[in-house]
Amino acid sequence: LSSIMVDVSGVQPGTQLTVKWLGKPVFIRRRTQEEIDAAREVPISELPDPDARNENLSVGAEATDANRALPAPGDENSEEWLVMMGVCTHLGCVPLGDAGDFGGWFCPCHGSHYDTAGRIRRGPAPENLPVPVAAFTDESTIKLG
Ligand code: FES
Repeated sequence: LSSIMVDVSGVQPGTQLTVKWLGKPVFIRRRTQEEIDAAREVPISELPDPDARNENLSVGAEATDANRALPAPGDENSEEWLVMMGVCTHLGCVPLGDAGDFGGWFCPCHGSHYDTAGRIRRGPAPENLPVPVAAFTDESTIKLG
């Protein structure tokens, strides 16, 4: 009912698209290998929120990079795509991309730093940026919801 289709054919590696869905921003980022590697290196024990917060997975899944990424068409193991709500889990501001101490997102309202997998790393936000129900329907289209 409230699903939307997003054309991501123009999104280059290292950039992101922000779309509005259900009245909220959704970040769709096509990550570089460096961004993926940085996120993979972090032990779960170092994460303030060890939960994947991914609506496509079962509750309680660990916040590994693979569990945060959206599987790409034709390559289930690709961690290139990251789709998440652009709403800070502290008090709801919109975090800025390519910012913060962990190379991901930074929320300027009260200083929350998210990493390249959108996981909270420092600051008052209690949870990772939520990953909504999402899937590729063809090579260049992501369906939200
Ligand atoms: Fe983002 Fe407070 S709303 S840090």
